[in-house]
Amino acid sequence: MRLSPADERMLSGEDGLAVQAAIELLVRYGDLMGADRLIDTDNVCGANIFGPRHANVLGTTDPAALFSRFSLDLDGPVDVPPFRAHSCQVIGPRDREQWDVQGLAPSDVDAMNDSERYLAEKGVDLLSTCTPYQVGNVPRFGEHCAWMESSAVVYINAVLGARTNTEGRESSAASMLTGRTPYCGYHLDEHRLATHLVDVTHPVTTIEDWNLLGYWVGEQVHDAVPVLTGTGLAPDPVRLKQFGAAAASSGDVEMYHLPGVTPEARTLEQALGGRSPKATSVYDAGARAATVASLCRTAVDRDVDFVMIGCPHASLPQVREVARLLDGRRIADSTTLWVFTPAALRTVAERSGYVATIERAGGRVLADTCPAIGQFLPPRTRVFATDSAKQAHYLPAIAGVQGWFGSVDACVTASITGRWPDA
Ligand code: F3S
Repeated sequence: MRLSPADERMLSGEDGLAVQAAIELLVRYGDLMGADRLIDTDNVCGANIFGPRHANVLGTTDPAALFSRFSLDLDGPVDVPPFRAHSCQVIGPRDREQWDVQGLAPSDVDAMNDSERYLAEKGVDLLSTCTPYQVGNVPRFGEHCAWMESSAVVYINAVLGARTNTEGRESSAASMLTGRTPYCGYHLDEHRLATHLVDVTHPVTTIEDWNLLGYWVGEQVHDAVPVLTGTGLAPDPVRLKQFGAAAASSGDVEMYHLPGVTPEARTLEQALGGRSPKATSVYDAGARAATVASLCRTAVDRDVDFVMIGCPHASLPQVREVARLLDGRRIADSTTLWVFTPAALRTVAERSGYVATIERAGGRVLADTCPAIGQFLPPRTRVFATDSAKQAHYLPAIAGVQGWFGSVDACVTASITGRWPDA
């Protein structure tokens, strides 16, 4: 790998042990990925806060020790200077204000708060969401970033035209410290071109439809770059958020094209770079029905204990819709409804009256976390329902519960009746 004079200086240890460990990590990572150099980045998303699981392994809650060990792979705590790159925090394990509903111990929350303060001292914006692009970190077209979180990665690559690979805790921390990232993968033009064609012949309009299409596309193309064609495909940002998250769950989709909607290709030919697709698949009524069955494969009982809305973190229109559906109604005593949204949007939802409406019905609007990341559920949950293909994909495996997938309307109805609606 060709290193710049600044890279060499960091590698020599002139900028301190933490920066040296970070650049060493990036060089090793870049070599493995076939990168010929590192490039500048000034937009990094990562910086998970540390919870009890990490503290138990290391036997300390000291944020400096935890950061050195788990982010920099160093044995002892080292001095960490302010981060060089503009950095934001990805979703974490607890709601900063309503952690009591998660059943967390106050001492664990104190340790998480210390961990978060440590990151803030280094210059990290504490967005604490899987959707930083909804709350103030909107990369510009072509900007080289280093972001964690698959749903955010595919959103900023495909919808915004920014450039990032799917980073991890260690590589994102290294990029925060150095302002560098390996020049490989989705930073390069050639890897952003479509290789697979998806012909959408069945109508796709609702948010539920876009979840289903995304999940099916991921199953078809795995980690390839698809381009979608079909009439009437006019997704708004919420639909694009749900589509990408679903495709990144069933497959590893990090980039796609929807000519006329996404910014890097105005035509099918541009998306494919003038080449023929390696494979073509057709999304029809049968594909849709099979995807519904696949997403509900763990569901047997129709009695629903828990309804989860907001994966990826809900946009304001989604919170507003839940409030509208719940207005004047009451969630069943046997059922819990939680909506997850970024903390900044929760504030706006409070101001707009949506939170009060949802709480009057017996629901809660939580922020900063989600059941899959925080690994928590309402007590005694056996069966949950969600409007998110991604959450339906992960939560049964993570928590050993049954999961129903459907529209937000079906989910809210289930929360009121305590039963998943018959097909
Ligand atoms: Fe976000 Fe958690 Fe879903 S991280 S994308 S709400 S699984």
